[in-house]
Amino acid sequence: MDPRFSDLLTPAVKALRASEIRELLKLVKRAKDIISFAGGIPDPKYFPRKELVEITRKVIEEYGDYSLQYSETQGVMELREALADFLYRVRGIKADPENILVTTGSQQSLDIVARAFITPGSKVITESPSYLAAIGVFKLAGADLVGIKMDGKGMKTLVLEETVKKLIELRCKPKFIYTIPVAQNPGGVTMSLERKKHLLEIASQHDLLIVEDDPYSYFVFDENADITALKALDKEDRVIYISTLSKILAPGIRLGWMVIPKELTRRLELLKQYLDLHSPTLNQYIFTEALRTGLVEKHIKKLKNVYKVKRDTMISAMDEYFPSYTWYSRPIGGFFVFTYVFKKNFDSRKLMNVAIEKYKVAYVPGQGFHPDGSGANSMRLSFSYPDPDTIREGIKRLARLIEEV
Ligand SMILES: Cc1ncc(COP(=O)(O)O)c(C=O)c1O
Repeated sequence: MDPRFSDLLTPAVKALRASEIRELLKLVKRAKDIISFAGGIPDPKYFPRKELVEITRKVIEEYGDYSLQYSETQGVMELREALADFLYRVRGIKADPENILVTTGSQQSLDIVARAFITPGSKVITESPSYLAAIGVFKLAGADLVGIKMDGKGMKTLVLEETVKKLIELRCKPKFIYTIPVAQNPGGVTMSLERKKHLLEIASQHDLLIVEDDPYSYFVFDENADITALKALDKEDRVIYISTLSKILAPGIRLGWMVIPKELTRRLELLKQYLDLHSPTLNQYIFTEALRTGLVEKHIKKLKNVYKVKRDTMISAMDEYFPSYTWYSRPIGGFFVFTYVFKKNFDSRKLMNVAIEKYKVAYVPGQGFHPDGSGANSMRLSFSYPDPDTIREGIKRLARLIEEV
């Protein structure tokens, strides 16, 4: 068919590429007997269906006039109050409900940040590797991303310091620093307390804005790990904190929230108004009840056990089967292990078809997570969906692929 309207699209939309993960998931769905470590999605066996049915019924019966109605852009007050209480108890973050913005998932929070601060050519600093859809939405807004490498302690803040200085010298001050400090997606690493303090110092010295994306700290498996939120250390109100209900209850509810520096709250709220007026009111009341009745915290406890077993299974299978020329993260929480294969010409993207067709195992090639296009020898492995026996078998298959190709 001749294109009639495609020329009307903006250059940014014309340049969009399908997400590697979504394409992969389609392929994996069609093929049989594949073990997939590709999608970072919660295990649906553990969705609290019965409790959510009861809460939904109650919300419609008792608050029907409100919960089925339009509501304020910032989010219903009951939810913002319940969130402020939850954030203080669970993450040590003191948030005024006036500075909380309820969003339609973290992805919308990232979109709001992108629209609010990025113009074509704006410099934005991220970790390298970083979250694919954050890279995507920042680039869509025209950002020029600068990736800072990580090690086992998270973003290398000494490198960050030098990079910031250089950018400022070149009169390209970064619009913000985007970080996922705990159980990073895809890196599976957690930033040390020392690095967090250093990051805040650098930001303070150069008056920079920080965007902290924090979906995974709520179910960390290793109790003695330091998971202090940057926002809890933020004495200068320079951190935008983003989190989500997706991983701690259910992503289909599509709710997230932001804690915003006082100076910016009203502007970002106005911006959201033009994106979707407000996030679904019914779901906001369901979330409020899930917080008030303790369902969220009860569910988090359960999830910690479920995903700890899966993480332990993946790491011990990797210890057993992976060759010595591989490196992999040892995540304290979250859904992901990231691995590099130090073997000449190993290109995980090129090997994807062989992995699926011959070895019957899927992963996400790591290159797309690196803003500078490096990381051809890396892969992201998600342990959240398959059961433990399947995880072991999948790691065995992947090890064979690494050794044989
Ligand atoms: C780091 C990070 N940020 C944001 C999101 C988006 O989450 P949501 O479902 O809240 O849009 C994800 C989802 O995987 C994520 O890993």
